[in-house]
Amino acid sequence: MKNKINKWMHRPLCIMHFALCIAMMLASCDSGDIAEQELSTADLGHTVKLTATLSGIDSWKSQYAISLAAFALGDNYARVVRTLPNTTADNTQVTLVLSHLDDDVNTVELAVTNRLRERIITLASVNMADYENTRDTIRMDLGVVDVGYMGALQRGLFDVACIQCHGGNGRSAANLNLTEGQARSNLVDVPSTRKEGMTRVKSGDAENSLLHQILNEGGEDILHYNHTEVVSSQFKENLKEVLQLIDEWIGTLID
Ligand code: HEC
Repeated sequence: MKNKINKWMHRPLCIMHFALCIAMMLASCDSGDIAEQELSTADLGHTVKLTATLSGIDSWKSQYAISLAAFALGDNYARVVRTLPNTTADNTQVTLVLSHLDDDVNTVELAVTNRLRERIITLASVNMADYENTRDTIRMDLGVVDVGYMGALQRGLFDVACIQCHGGNGRSAANLNLTEGQARSNLVDVPSTRKEGMTRVKSGDAENSLLHQILNEGGEDILHYNHTEVVSSQFKENLKEVLQLIDEWIGTLID
């Protein structure tokens, strides 16, 4: 008898439960429909796909990461990033994709970023304005790239701000060649041709390296050419970060 009552008392609850389930199912179906409609009519945004064979990722300390990162104009913090684990072995073929990028995104970059998604230095970049009228996937096929300290400085600093004067072909200012494959041997522990007693880059000692001195504040008048101006006009959002990276690189030279 007791059982019977219990059974009957349960029944309305069960019915209610059942009804609730149906309602929830309907509700979720409904919202699904709406989402689909939105997707079919609204702008899905851009997709950028990076493919490359990368080396040097494991040289970065844990506060940094190699990322595919989307930035708005004038912003040094990425909206979205896809990062690679710092344990990625040399010569790993990688694919990174960012999708649903909205119109605020100005550039998508292969960059060194920190934990706050801040841009440290840019190794390669696509300007989204160039793809305004296409909805096709934008491809960044970079081939083989060294993304360690030296590779990052080569692509992110020397290639963009220095080699127009410090190129090869025997036409390098101050006889300093900063092109790929040459920069390291032209800088590290090489005496300055302009400042007697100074070293271009003194291994492990950024402060006493001419490179550090001419690029940082107060370095304007050391040489007959103002190099602080070169970097401050090139790196509008991340000057501090680039200068710090150079110092860290010099620090790694005695590790
Ligand atoms: C517009 C031309 C120009 C650009 C761009 C330029 N430099 Fe120079 N650089 C010079 C000139 C000219 C000198 C020699 C200055 C002198 O005689 O006092 C020089 C000298 C140097 C020296 C000293 C070399 C020595 O032996 O003492 C270093 C180091 C250097 N540049 C690094 C750089 C780096 C790094 C960049 C990029 C961030 C850069 N330069 C961009 C023109 C340039």
